[in-house]
Amino acid sequence: MKAPRDIVDFMIKLFKEKYRTVCAKVAEQKKRGFLDVPLLKHYSRLLKMRKWVESELRMRYLSLGNGRIILAEKLGIRDGDRVLDVGSGDGWFSIQVALRHPGATFYGVELSEEFAEAMEYAEIFGVKNVYFFYFDAYDLPFPDNVFDKVALFFSIANIAFNRKDLVRLFMELRRVLRKGGLMGISEPFVEDFPKNLGEVLRQLYAESHNGETLLYLSDVVWALRKTNFKVVEITKVELRDTGADIGEAKEYLRRHYGVPIPDSVLLSIQTDRIWVHDDPPGYTIIVAKKR
Ligand SMILES: C[S@@+](CC[C@H](N)C(=O)[O-])C[C@H]1O[C@@H](n2cnc3c(N)ncnc32)[C@H](O)[C@@H]1O
Repeated sequence: MKAPRDIVDFMIKLFKEKYRTVCAKVAEQKKRGFLDVPLLKHYSRLLKMRKWVESELRMRYLSLGNGRIILAEKLGIRDGDRVLDVGSGDGWFSIQVALRHPGATFYGVELSEEFAEAMEYAEIFGVKNVYFFYFDAYDLPFPDNVFDKVALFFSIANIAFNRKDLVRLFMELRRVLRKGGLMGISEPFVEDFPKNLGEVLRQLYAESHNGETLLYLSDVVWALRKTNFKVVEITKVELRDTGADIGEAKEYLRRHYGVPIPDSVLLSIQTDRIWVHDDPPGYTIIVAKKR
């Protein structure tokens, strides 16, 4: 059955129903002195997921304006498609889109332990048409021309840091994408932040060494053309209810960057609101075709 377009509400409802049922079963087994391992495994996954449901910031990230479904629509994902999810992280792009497209198959590649967490989350939502692998996006073990679609949802700035990386990455993604296949990139670029904020954040990412940056849209478009992709569409998306008031900037930025923020940096910000890469004011969707 195809899930509704408003995917996050649907997922939360599903989670809450399962959580209630499993909690009751666990309490019952405990009382009766049973050690039911499959049930405990299920309960353990649900407890991890509860962390998402209880955190406002995580919920914002889970939705990003229903952005994962919007990217899937831009890519025209349909039954039978093989979709490569590059930098799949916790797996939310593949899981959310797979719920809506049970006839397509999703292959997430991720270079951290999050690939295993993604599998656990897929189990919670009963998603069968996803696979998550610990593979490097620059060196994929897949044959040539095997995917119909490639998606990079809020991941390109975790994978590529400059024009040279972008070219190398796009060459590898081009290799595994079939001719005429589409690649979709959803990303908050420097240009998506107001005034000088993009530049300030980019500098903070460089100093905090947390494996992330902000890229320039112009660099990504340049690298796509250099690797012989045709840029089919560039769309700007605005998000509501993201960021924090500038008065909370110090704590907000410290939480996101994991390092103390010098006052000189805070004073250089010219906006009265603050945002970061994973909680941006808006982002850009690029759709490109393999010629
Ligand atoms: C922000 S997460 C992506 C979020 C995810 N696409 C979603 O829908 O929620 C970006 C991920 O890219 C991963 N990454 C970084 N370099 C990579 C590489 N060379 N190959 C594969 N994944 C990589 C990071 O470990 C990180 O988990």
